[in-house]
Formats: sequence, C-alpha cells, structure tokens
Amino acid sequence: MARRATAVLISGSGSNLQALLDAARDPGYPAAIRLVISNRPEAFGLERARRAGVPAVVVDHRAFATREVFEAEIEAELRTAGIELVCLAGFMRVLTAATVERWRDRMLNIHPSLLPAYRGLHTHARVLADGAAVTGCSVHLVRPELDKGPILVQGVVPVLPDDDPERLARRVLEVEHRAYPRALAMLAGGRVRVEGERAILLDERPGERLILHPSLAR
Ligand code: GRF
Repeated sequence: MARRATAVLISGSGSNLQALLDAARDPGYPAAIRLVISNRPEAFGLERARRAGVPAVVVDHRAFATREVFEAEIEAELRTAGIELVCLAGFMRVLTAATVERWRDRMLNIHPSLLPAYRGLHTHARVLADGAAVTGCSVHLVRPELDKGPILVQGVVPVLPDDDPERLARRVLEVEHRAYPRALAMLAGGRVRVEGERAILLDERPGERLILHPSLAR
C-alpha cells in the first residue's frame, strides 16, 4: 500500500513530531511525514523537521485577521503538498468546525489525559489537584468539540507521590511518544472504521490500543 502523505501541525517543542518522524523513517511504516506547519516561528519543532529533511513552513496566526483566513492558508499548504492525513501535535490553536469537518476521520490529535477525563488545558495540575492515582494520554480523531472524538490509542501512567505538573508531564510524554506513532499507523494503514463516536480497529490484537508506562510493567 502507498504510504499516506501526512502533515504534522505544531506550536512548540515538537517531541511528538519527533516520535512520528522517527517512526516514519521505517520504509514499512504506512505514513510518510511530508510537511510540518507551525503557527509559531520560534517553535523548536521546525528545527526537528529541517533536520529530518521534511519541508517546514510557518503560518503565523498573528498575521491573519480572522481564524478563517489563517486556516485557508494552512489548507492551501496542505493541498499544495498533497496531504492526506493531518496530525495535531501540540498545536495550540482551536480549529473551526469547517476545517475539522473537511478533515473528518483524517485528522488526529494527541491530548495529555485519559479522555474523556480532563479535556482542555492544564491537565496535569488538575489531575494532581484531584489526587488521581492514574493519568495518561489519548490519541483521537478530531471533532469540532475540543479534545473530543473517537479514541484510537491510550497510554496509562501512574501518578507518584512527589509529582509536580512538570514531572508528571515528562512521564506522560514517554507514553505519548509511543502512542502517537501507533495511532497514526492504524489510521494510515486503513485499519480504522468509525461507528458513531467509536473507532473500531480492524483485526485488533488484545492490548493494541493500550500502552502502559514501563513502571507499570510486571
Ligand atoms: C503534548 O503533551 C501533547 O499531548 C499536548 O501538547 C504537548 C506537546 O508536546 N497536546 P510536544 O510539542 O509534542 O513536545
């Protein structure tokens, strides 16, 4: 099967982008990263793209009068590059429903919590404030409602007694970097069917949609 041309949209460090670039170096991986778009010119992820030899462009939201024209510019970049799938990876702009619908079931997002818990910002601080024993990450198909949509893969992480939001974020990122490449492989490999608000994974192997932090391994 031809590899699916994929774009990654970022705003910052791009460590999830790096995980996707690393996975896609394997010629057998079903997606190829063909474009990186950042809304922030200073995002380190742009450097990661350049090092990997992937075209990287800045579409700075501050240069556009409305969300619609900002997204039209992104759309033009995606079209020019022949992009089939889009991964949001720490992309800190909320997309309009029109853009999300145009990419329905072809756009993924990663969120640092076990959805549907802790949608929105500051997840790790909220998890700690609630005294939860467990948290993690979710990779899901994007829907117009923020951090909602059919879930493909989740990663599970313990909350430890001396955690602060930064320490917890670092532990969650370890599973994010394994969850995102796995979820993109499922989508790009044509293994995802959506029924209502559920993603069904064709030929699912037990545990395939779940990643445990190494400290949970027995
Ligand atoms: C990750 O925690 C991701 O879940 C969230 O933003 C962060 C991005 O980190 N949406 P990075 O830029 O991939 O390092």
